[in-house]
Amino acid sequence: MEEQFWQSRWEEGRIAFHEAVPNRCLTQHLPDFSLRTGSQIFVPLCGKSVDLDWLLRQGHNVAGVEFNQGAVEAVFERMALTPTIWENKGVRRFQSGRLTLWQGDLFALKAADIPKVDLIYDRAALVALPAEMRTRYGQHLVELSASAPHLLVSYTYDQSQMEGPPFSVSKSEIEAIYQDTHSLAELSRSAITGPLATRCSGGEHVWKLTPK
Ligand SMILES: C[S@@+](CC[C@H](N)C(=O)[O-])C[C@H]1O[C@@H](n2cnc3c(N)ncnc32)[C@H](O)[C@@H]1O
Repeated sequence: MEEQFWQSRWEEGRIAFHEAVPNRCLTQHLPDFSLRTGSQIFVPLCGKSVDLDWLLRQGHNVAGVEFNQGAVEAVFERMALTPTIWENKGVRRFQSGRLTLWQGDLFALKAADIPKVDLIYDRAALVALPAEMRTRYGQHLVELSASAPHLLVSYTYDQSQMEGPPFSVSKSEIEAIYQDTHSLAELSRSAITGPLATRCSGGEHVWKLTPK
């Protein structure tokens, strides 16, 4: 999706993907990764997700990247944090304590820009992208994070029921995207619920991607 698509969604308040409480797939399955306190978690396409706050409360360092500046600012405001802001080649870094958010394009971030990543948390990120962008997205995450595991939440549904995003992304597609670097295990599967269930019926899947 082009940046303008997402900026319009934010400007018009069409952000049904935003959840009021920490995501159940995250809170249930983060323990499956046995992370040490103080691990570095990278959240691509993070929006203003309250999952960022929850991960900080677990004692981790949290970094994310998001196109929309208002969303980035909203995260710091709700935590009553005043970030320090740096700008470099069109990407702005907002940082306070254990939270760092880049406002700009994920694809503009380089591995040297970000700390060593211990876990990628991907919710409404891979599935937010159309098929022609998903392989590039996965390759870019691997470039950024070397051999970090991923906690990935995805959906499967009959794509004729609605236009994405979110898109239906099959197991075989995820395997193909990460075939050179990660093996895939399904941690759980349940029916799609929440606002998305009013638009389609299908499955919500939680995956553990383990470096090979
Ligand atoms: C479906 S939303 C999910 C947000 C968040 N993960 C959540 O669970 O609430 C996808 C977000 O990714 C952002 N986005 C899309 N493409 C991006 C890119 N290339 N770089 C940075 N942010 C991007 C959009 O602005 C949008 O906020």
